[in-house]
Amino acid sequence: MTETGLVLGIETSCDETAAAVVKNGRTILANVIASQVDVHQRFGGVVPEIASRKHIEWILPVIDEALAQADVGLTDLDAVAATYGPGLVGGLLVGLAAAKSLAFARRIPFVGVNHIEGHIYANILAHAEIAAPLVCLTVSGGHTDLLYMPQLGTYEIIGRTRDDAAGEAFDKIARVLGLPYPGGPQISLLAEQGDRERFPMPRGLLGGETYDFSFSGLKTAALNTMNQAKQRGEELPLADFAASFQWAIVDVLTQKVLLAAREYGVAQILLSGGVGANSYLRHHLTTKAAEYGLEVFYPPLELCTDNAAMIASAGYFRYAAGCRDPWDLNAVPGLRLGD
Ligand code: KG4
Ligand code: ZN
Repeated sequence: MTETGLVLGIETSCDETAAAVVKNGRTILANVIASQVDVHQRFGGVVPEIASRKHIEWILPVIDEALAQADVGLTDLDAVAATYGPGLVGGLLVGLAAAKSLAFARRIPFVGVNHIEGHIYANILAHAEIAAPLVCLTVSGGHTDLLYMPQLGTYEIIGRTRDDAAGEAFDKIARVLGLPYPGGPQISLLAEQGDRERFPMPRGLLGGETYDFSFSGLKTAALNTMNQAKQRGEELPLADFAASFQWAIVDVLTQKVLLAAREYGVAQILLSGGVGANSYLRHHLTTKAAEYGLEVFYPPLELCTDNAAMIASAGYFRYAAGCRDPWDLNAVPGLRLGD
Protein backbone atom coordinates (compact mmCIF):
# COMPACT_ATOMS: atom_id res chain seq x y z
CA MET A 1 0.00 0.00 0.00
CA THR A 2 1.40 3.38 -0.94
CA GLU A 3 1.05 6.38 1.32
CA THR A 4 -2.19 7.40 -0.36
CA GLY A 5 -3.98 4.19 0.72
CA LEU A 6 -6.71 4.65 -1.87
CA VAL A 7 -9.20 1.77 -2.08
CA LEU A 8 -12.09 1.39 -4.48
CA GLY A 9 -14.89 -0.55 -2.75
CA ILE A 10 -17.72 -2.35 -4.56
CA GLU A 11 -20.98 -3.63 -3.02
CA THR A 12 -23.60 -5.63 -4.95
CA SER A 13 -24.83 -8.25 -2.46
CA CYS A 14 -28.50 -7.28 -2.47
CA ASP A 15 -30.41 -4.45 -4.16
CA GLU A 16 -27.90 -1.60 -4.02
CA THR A 17 -25.26 -1.16 -6.72
CA ALA A 18 -22.59 0.79 -4.89
CA ALA A 19 -19.00 1.98 -5.37
CA ALA A 20 -16.87 4.16 -3.12
CA VAL A 21 -13.37 5.54 -2.88
CA VAL A 22 -11.94 5.65 0.65
CA LYS A 23 -8.52 6.89 1.75
CA ASN A 24 -6.61 5.05 4.50
CA GLY A 25 -9.79 3.22 5.52
CA ARG A 26 -11.25 6.33 7.13
CA THR A 27 -11.70 9.25 4.73
CA ILE A 28 -14.56 8.90 2.25
CA LEU A 29 -13.77 10.62 -1.04
CA ALA A 30 -16.86 9.30 -2.84
CA ASN A 31 -19.76 7.05 -1.85
CA VAL A 32 -22.15 6.35 -4.75
CA ILE A 33 -25.25 4.19 -4.31
CA ALA A 34 -27.70 3.30 -7.08
CA SER A 35 -30.64 1.87 -5.17
CA GLN A 36 -32.98 -0.60 -6.86
CA VAL A 37 -35.66 -0.12 -4.20
CA ASP A 38 -38.09 1.42 -6.73
CA VAL A 39 -37.62 -1.53 -9.07
CA HIS A 40 -38.38 -4.14 -6.39
CA GLN A 41 -41.06 -2.21 -4.49
CA ARG A 42 -43.95 -3.45 -6.61
CA PHE A 43 -42.94 -7.06 -5.84
CA GLY A 44 -42.84 -6.38 -2.08
CA GLY A 45 -39.21 -7.59 -1.80
CA VAL A 46 -36.01 -8.16 -3.74
CA VAL A 47 -36.32 -10.33 -6.88
CA PRO A 48 -32.82 -11.86 -7.27
CA GLU A 49 -32.91 -12.25 -11.08
CA ILE A 50 -33.95 -8.62 -11.59
CA ALA A 51 -31.36 -7.49 -9.03
CA SER A 52 -28.49 -9.17 -10.95
CA ARG A 53 -29.60 -7.63 -14.24
CA LYS A 54 -29.74 -4.17 -12.68
CA HIS A 55 -26.29 -4.64 -11.14
CA ILE A 56 -24.91 -5.49 -14.61
CA GLU A 57 -26.49 -2.34 -16.07
CA TRP A 58 -25.34 -0.02 -13.31
CA ILE A 59 -22.01 -1.29 -12.03
CA LEU A 60 -19.72 0.49 -14.52
CA PRO A 61 -21.54 3.87 -14.46
CA VAL A 62 -21.56 3.73 -10.65
CA ILE A 63 -17.80 3.01 -10.52
CA ASP A 64 -17.16 5.82 -13.04
CA GLU A 65 -19.22 8.20 -10.94
CA ALA A 66 -17.36 7.26 -7.74
CA LEU A 67 -13.96 7.85 -9.39
CA ALA A 68 -15.17 11.15 -10.85
CA GLN A 69 -16.56 12.38 -7.51
CA ALA A 70 -13.33 11.39 -5.75
CA ASP A 71 -11.40 13.09 -8.55
CA VAL A 72 -9.09 10.10 -8.97
CA GLY A 73 -8.27 7.83 -11.88
CA LEU A 74 -7.82 4.05 -11.95
CA THR A 75 -4.05 4.59 -11.88
CA ASP A 76 -4.30 6.31 -8.48
CA LEU A 77 -5.86 3.28 -6.78
CA ASP A 78 -3.85 1.03 -4.45
CA ALA A 79 -6.35 -1.82 -4.15
CA VAL A 80 -9.87 -2.86 -5.09
CA ALA A 81 -12.23 -4.47 -2.55
CA ALA A 82 -15.58 -6.13 -3.22
CA THR A 83 -18.20 -8.00 -1.18
CA TYR A 84 -17.94 -11.78 -1.82
CA GLY A 85 -20.71 -12.87 0.59
CA PRO A 86 -23.15 -13.27 2.20
CA GLY A 87 -25.81 -12.19 -0.28
CA LEU A 88 -27.54 -13.04 -3.53
CA VAL A 89 -25.14 -15.00 -5.73
CA GLY A 90 -26.02 -13.25 -9.01
CA GLY A 91 -25.39 -9.82 -7.55
CA LEU A 92 -22.20 -10.85 -5.78
CA LEU A 93 -20.75 -12.25 -9.02
CA VAL A 94 -21.29 -8.95 -10.84
CA GLY A 95 -19.43 -6.92 -8.20
CA LEU A 96 -16.65 -9.51 -7.89
CA ALA A 97 -16.11 -9.70 -11.65
CA ALA A 98 -15.90 -5.92 -11.92
CA ALA A 99 -13.50 -5.61 -8.98
CA LYS A 100 -11.22 -8.43 -10.10
CA SER A 101 -11.09 -7.17 -13.71
CA LEU A 102 -10.10 -3.66 -12.64
CA ALA A 103 -7.50 -4.89 -10.14
CA PHE A 104 -6.07 -7.40 -12.64
CA ALA A 105 -5.84 -4.81 -15.41
CA ARG A 106 -4.16 -2.33 -13.08
CA ARG A 107 -1.96 -5.03 -11.47
CA ILE A 108 -3.00 -3.99 -8.00
CA PRO A 109 -4.31 -6.23 -5.18
CA PHE A 110 -7.88 -7.40 -4.91
CA VAL A 111 -9.46 -8.03 -1.49
CA GLY A 112 -12.75 -9.87 -0.87
CA VAL A 113 -14.84 -8.52 2.00
CA ASN A 114 -17.50 -10.19 4.14
CA HIS A 115 -20.60 -8.00 3.94
CA ILE A 116 -21.26 -8.29 7.70
CA GLU A 117 -17.70 -7.19 8.44
CA GLY A 118 -18.40 -4.29 6.08
CA HIS A 119 -21.34 -3.21 8.24
CA ILE A 120 -19.06 -3.29 11.30
CA TYR A 121 -16.49 -1.14 9.50
CA ALA A 122 -19.18 1.44 8.69
CA ASN A 123 -18.95 2.16 12.41
CA ILE A 124 -15.16 1.97 12.69
CA LEU A 125 -14.85 4.22 9.64
CA ALA A 126 -17.00 6.87 11.29
CA HIS A 127 -15.58 6.73 14.84
CA ALA A 128 -11.81 6.77 15.35
CA GLU A 129 -12.29 6.28 19.11
CA ILE A 130 -13.67 2.74 18.76
CA ALA A 131 -11.36 0.28 20.53
CA ALA A 132 -11.58 -3.45 21.30
CA PRO A 133 -12.60 -5.44 23.22
CA LEU A 134 -16.20 -4.76 22.35
CA VAL A 135 -19.57 -6.30 21.64
CA CYS A 136 -21.24 -5.71 18.29
CA LEU A 137 -24.86 -6.15 17.24
CA THR A 138 -25.30 -6.46 13.47
CA VAL A 139 -28.96 -6.24 12.52
CA SER A 140 -30.04 -6.10 8.89
CA GLY A 141 -32.57 -7.55 6.49
CA GLY A 142 -30.62 -10.82 6.27
CA HIS A 143 -28.78 -11.03 9.61
CA THR A 144 -29.09 -10.64 13.33
CA ASP A 145 -25.70 -11.45 14.83
CA LEU A 146 -24.32 -10.68 18.27
CA LEU A 147 -20.51 -10.71 18.20
CA TYR A 148 -17.70 -10.44 20.69
CA MET A 149 -14.60 -8.78 19.25
CA PRO A 150 -11.52 -9.31 21.47
CA GLN A 151 -9.66 -7.16 18.93
CA LEU A 152 -10.63 -5.34 15.75
CA GLY A 153 -10.92 -7.85 12.92
CA THR A 154 -11.45 -10.90 15.20
CA TYR A 155 -15.01 -12.13 15.63
CA GLU A 156 -16.61 -14.58 17.98
CA ILE A 157 -20.28 -15.12 17.20
CA ILE A 158 -22.07 -15.43 20.52
CA GLY A 159 -25.66 -15.22 19.28
CA ARG A 160 -27.64 -15.17 16.05
CA THR A 161 -31.24 -15.46 14.94
CA ARG A 162 -32.72 -18.93 14.78
CA ASP A 163 -35.38 -17.87 12.26
CA ASP A 164 -36.09 -14.42 10.81
CA ALA A 165 -33.61 -11.56 10.87
CA ALA A 166 -34.89 -8.46 12.70
CA GLY A 167 -35.12 -6.46 9.46
CA GLU A 168 -36.92 -9.35 7.79
CA ALA A 169 -39.55 -9.31 10.58
CA PHE A 170 -40.04 -5.56 10.04
CA ASP A 171 -40.32 -6.07 6.27
CA LYS A 172 -42.75 -9.00 6.48
CA ILE A 173 -45.18 -7.29 8.86
CA ALA A 174 -44.98 -4.06 6.85
CA ARG A 175 -45.81 -6.02 3.73
CA VAL A 176 -48.97 -7.49 5.31
CA LEU A 177 -49.93 -3.97 6.40
CA GLY A 178 -49.65 -2.93 2.76
CA LEU A 179 -46.67 -0.63 3.40
CA PRO A 180 -43.98 -0.28 0.71
CA TYR A 181 -40.69 -2.20 0.78
CA PRO A 182 -38.43 -1.87 2.74
CA GLY A 183 -40.81 -1.90 5.68
CA GLY A 184 -38.45 -1.06 8.58
CA PRO A 185 -38.36 2.70 7.99
CA GLN A 186 -42.16 2.74 7.39
CA ILE A 187 -42.96 0.97 10.67
CA SER A 188 -40.46 3.18 12.50
CA LEU A 189 -42.22 6.29 11.16
CA LEU A 190 -45.70 5.03 12.09
CA ALA A 191 -44.49 4.05 15.57
CA GLU A 192 -43.40 7.59 16.41
CA GLN A 193 -46.93 8.59 17.46
CA GLY A 194 -47.93 5.20 18.89
CA ASP A 195 -48.36 3.65 22.35
CA ARG A 196 -45.82 0.81 22.69
CA GLU A 197 -47.83 -0.85 25.49
CA ARG A 198 -51.13 -1.04 23.58
CA PHE A 199 -50.53 -4.55 22.18
CA PRO A 200 -48.40 -6.82 24.38
CA MET A 201 -46.09 -8.83 22.07
CA PRO A 202 -43.90 -11.85 22.91
CA ARG A 203 -40.12 -11.58 23.40
CA GLY A 204 -38.51 -14.71 21.95
CA LEU A 205 -35.66 -16.50 23.78
CA LEU A 206 -35.46 -13.89 26.52
CA GLY A 207 -34.51 -15.75 29.66
CA GLY A 208 -30.77 -15.42 30.01
CA GLU A 209 -29.83 -18.93 28.81
CA THR A 210 -28.88 -17.98 25.23
CA TYR A 211 -27.73 -15.01 23.19
CA ASP A 212 -29.63 -16.35 20.15
CA PHE A 213 -32.69 -14.50 18.87
CA SER A 214 -36.07 -15.63 17.55
CA PHE A 215 -38.61 -13.36 15.89
CA SER A 216 -41.03 -15.93 14.44
CA GLY A 217 -43.27 -15.93 17.55
CA LEU A 218 -43.46 -12.15 17.43
CA LYS A 219 -44.38 -12.28 13.75
CA THR A 220 -47.18 -14.77 14.44
CA ALA A 221 -48.49 -12.70 17.37
CA ALA A 222 -48.49 -9.55 15.20
CA LEU A 223 -50.37 -11.36 12.42
CA ASN A 224 -52.91 -12.67 14.97
CA THR A 225 -53.47 -9.15 16.31
CA MET A 226 -54.14 -7.93 12.77
CA ASN A 227 -56.52 -10.82 12.02
CA GLN A 228 -58.45 -10.42 15.28
CA ALA A 229 -59.06 -6.73 14.54
CA LYS A 230 -60.23 -7.68 11.05
CA GLN A 231 -62.59 -10.39 12.32
CA ARG A 232 -64.14 -7.97 14.79
CA GLY A 233 -64.56 -5.45 12.02
CA GLU A 234 -62.37 -3.00 13.92
CA GLU A 235 -59.79 -0.73 12.39
CA LEU A 236 -56.29 -1.57 13.65
CA PRO A 237 -54.74 1.48 15.38
CA LEU A 238 -51.69 1.47 13.13
CA ALA A 239 -49.44 3.75 15.16
CA ASP A 240 -50.01 1.75 18.38
CA PHE A 241 -49.58 -1.53 16.53
CA ALA A 242 -46.31 -0.38 14.92
CA ALA A 243 -45.01 0.99 18.24
CA SER A 244 -45.82 -2.27 20.09
CA PHE A 245 -44.21 -4.39 17.37
CA GLN A 246 -41.09 -2.22 17.18
CA TRP A 247 -40.81 -2.12 20.97
CA ALA A 248 -40.78 -5.94 21.18
CA ILE A 249 -37.80 -6.07 18.78
CA VAL A 250 -35.93 -3.15 20.36
CA ASP A 251 -36.47 -4.52 23.88
CA VAL A 252 -35.06 -7.97 23.04
CA LEU A 253 -32.08 -6.59 21.11
CA THR A 254 -31.22 -4.14 23.88
CA GLN A 255 -31.52 -6.63 26.74
CA LYS A 256 -29.34 -9.24 25.01
CA VAL A 257 -26.63 -6.76 23.96
CA LEU A 258 -26.38 -5.29 27.45
CA LEU A 259 -26.20 -8.74 29.02
CA ALA A 260 -23.39 -9.70 26.63
CA ALA A 261 -21.50 -6.44 27.16
CA ARG A 262 -21.53 -6.97 30.94
CA GLU A 263 -20.67 -10.67 30.78
CA TYR A 264 -17.75 -10.05 28.40
CA GLY A 265 -16.61 -7.02 30.40
CA VAL A 266 -16.41 -4.56 27.51
CA ALA A 267 -16.82 -0.78 27.64
CA GLN A 268 -18.04 -0.25 24.08
CA ILE A 269 -21.00 -1.53 22.05
CA LEU A 270 -21.29 -1.24 18.26
CA LEU A 271 -24.63 -1.18 16.49
CA SER A 272 -24.45 -1.95 12.75
CA GLY A 273 -26.62 -2.85 9.76
CA GLY A 274 -29.83 -1.49 8.25
CA VAL A 275 -31.94 -1.90 11.41
CA GLY A 276 -29.23 0.10 13.18
CA ALA A 277 -30.81 3.07 11.38
CA ASN A 278 -33.88 2.67 13.61
CA SER A 279 -33.98 5.81 15.74
CA TYR A 280 -35.88 4.18 18.60
CA LEU A 281 -33.31 1.36 18.83
CA ARG A 282 -30.43 3.87 18.77
CA HIS A 283 -32.03 5.97 21.49
CA HIS A 284 -33.15 3.13 23.76
CA LEU A 285 -29.90 1.17 23.53
CA THR A 286 -27.79 4.29 24.17
CA THR A 287 -29.91 5.34 27.16
CA LYS A 288 -29.93 1.89 28.78
CA ALA A 289 -26.20 1.32 28.12
CA ALA A 290 -25.37 4.65 29.79
CA GLU A 291 -26.96 3.33 33.01
CA TYR A 292 -24.15 0.76 33.12
CA GLY A 293 -21.44 3.19 32.00
CA LEU A 294 -21.30 1.61 28.53
CA GLU A 295 -20.75 3.59 25.35
CA VAL A 296 -22.75 2.86 22.17
CA PHE A 297 -21.53 3.67 18.66
CA TYR A 298 -23.60 3.59 15.49
CA PRO A 299 -22.75 4.79 11.99
CA PRO A 300 -24.29 7.92 10.45
CA LEU A 301 -27.58 7.05 8.73
CA GLU A 302 -26.14 6.99 5.21
CA LEU A 303 -23.61 4.33 6.27
CA CYS A 304 -26.10 2.11 8.15
CA THR A 305 -27.78 0.56 5.13
CA ASP A 306 -25.82 -1.08 2.32
CA ASN A 307 -23.04 1.04 0.83
CA ALA A 308 -19.55 0.55 -0.62
CA ALA A 309 -17.63 2.94 1.67
CA MET A 310 -17.90 0.32 4.42
CA ILE A 311 -16.55 -2.31 2.00
CA ALA A 312 -13.63 -0.09 0.97
CA SER A 313 -12.83 0.57 4.64
CA ALA A 314 -12.96 -3.11 5.66
CA GLY A 315 -10.94 -3.94 2.52
CA TYR A 316 -8.30 -1.37 3.40
CA PHE A 317 -7.80 -2.74 6.92
CA ARG A 318 -7.65 -6.32 5.64
CA TYR A 319 -5.10 -5.31 3.03
CA ALA A 320 -3.07 -3.30 5.55
CA ALA A 321 -3.00 -6.45 7.73
CA GLY A 322 -1.42 -8.38 4.83
CA CYS A 323 -4.52 -10.06 3.34
CA ARG A 324 -4.68 -10.55 -0.41
CA ASP A 325 -7.24 -12.63 -2.26
CA PRO A 326 -6.71 -14.77 -5.35
CA TRP A 327 -8.30 -14.05 -8.73
CA ASP A 328 -10.45 -17.15 -8.37
CA LEU A 329 -12.14 -16.03 -5.15
CA ASN A 330 -15.76 -17.05 -5.67
CA ALA A 331 -19.03 -15.61 -4.39
CA VAL A 332 -20.12 -17.31 -1.15
CA PRO A 333 -23.84 -16.60 -0.62
CA GLY A 334 -23.91 -18.21 2.84
CA LEU A 335 -20.60 -16.75 4.07
CA ARG A 336 -20.33 -16.35 7.85
CA LEU A 337 -18.03 -14.13 9.85
CA GLY A 338 -14.86 -15.97 10.80
CA ASP A 339 -15.05 -18.38 7.78
O1 KG4 B 1 -28.11 -3.61 5.87
P1 KG4 B 1 -29.24 -3.51 4.92
O2 KG4 B 1 -29.31 -2.28 4.05
O3 KG4 B 1 -29.29 -4.73 3.96
C1 KG4 B 1 -28.99 -6.02 4.38
O4 KG4 B 1 -27.77 -6.34 4.47
O5 KG4 B 1 -29.97 -6.75 4.67
O6 KG4 B 1 -30.58 -3.64 5.80
C2 KG4 B 1 -31.84 -3.52 5.23
C3 KG4 B 1 -32.85 -3.79 6.32
C4 KG4 B 1 -34.29 -3.89 5.81
O7 KG4 B 1 -34.89 -5.03 6.39
C5 KG4 B 1 -34.93 -2.61 6.33
O8 KG4 B 1 -36.32 -2.73 6.56
C6 KG4 B 1 -34.17 -2.38 7.61
O9 KG4 B 1 -32.84 -2.74 7.30
N1 KG4 B 1 -34.22 -0.98 8.04
C7 KG4 B 1 -34.86 -0.58 9.15
C8 KG4 B 1 -34.75 0.84 9.20
N2 KG4 B 1 -34.03 1.24 8.10
C9 KG4 B 1 -33.72 0.10 7.40
N3 KG4 B 1 -35.51 -1.27 10.10
C10 KG4 B 1 -36.06 -0.58 11.12
N4 KG4 B 1 -36.00 0.77 11.22
C11 KG4 B 1 -35.36 1.51 10.30
N5 KG4 B 1 -35.31 2.85 10.42
ZN1 ZN C 1 -26.31 -5.12 4.59
